Amino acid sequence: MKSTPVIAIDGPSASGKGTVAQAVAAELGFHYLDSGALYRIVGLAVVRAGGNLENESEVLSILLKIHIKFEQAQVLLNGADVSDAIRAEPISAAASKVGAHARVRHALLQCQRDFRQQPGLVADGRDMASVVFPDAILKIYLTASAEARAERRYKQLIGKGFNASIAALLQEIRLRDQRDSERAAAPLQKCADAVEVDTTHLSVAQSIARVMALYRALPR
Ligand code: C5P
Repeated sequence: MKSTPVIAIDGPSASGKGTVAQAVAAELGFHYLDSGALYRIVGLAVVRAGGNLENESEVLSILLKIHIKFEQAQVLLNGADVSDAIRAEPISAAASKVGAHARVRHALLQCQRDFRQQPGLVADGRDMASVVFPDAILKIYLTASAEARAERRYKQLIGKGFNASIAALLQEIRLRDQRDSERAAAPLQKCADAVEVDTTHLSVAQSIARVMALYRALPR
């Protein structure tokens, strides 16, 4: 439904997109799409099936057999709650690998667009503004330095009871940035019509306030 407003929030991993997007969605009473979770579920499914993440046809055939469901705060893979499992660091890398395949991205397109429902949607990912919702009313490119992002991811993982090392996370984040920006299919990019918000020196509350201010300033 084209008339339903979409706020697209793209940016590199651990830039705070998820936290900011969820808060903005809650404040506006909008739906929320965590598109990264979709790629993570596919990555997890391929790893669990012992498949080859680099093989597009193999990933696609696994994707076509699984059942994905978002239920409130839970993410379900074939009916089982995988909300925590998809956040583990090896699955971040797996998500980034499956996301490099054009046919995999295409297969996930409609599922993402189905989240566009009244009264509106806040969508977070890498290609929300460029590919999935090019007619979004507000496009944000949310970023932060790689160091700040590694530190945030570290705190997030430790908080969830995972083991983590900042040095390893920083290296992984740089690798993922490179893979996400250099891939041929829907690379991570700041669209010409997106507003960049650098959160390196902003608190979560300040980042949310910045996005809300940009939304409120839109012409009605
Ligand atoms: O946002 P998140 O870190 O959960 O995304 C995990 C991975 O999924 C990213 O590194 C990226 O490779 C992939 N992804 C993507 N397109 C999106 C969202 C995520 O390719 N729209």
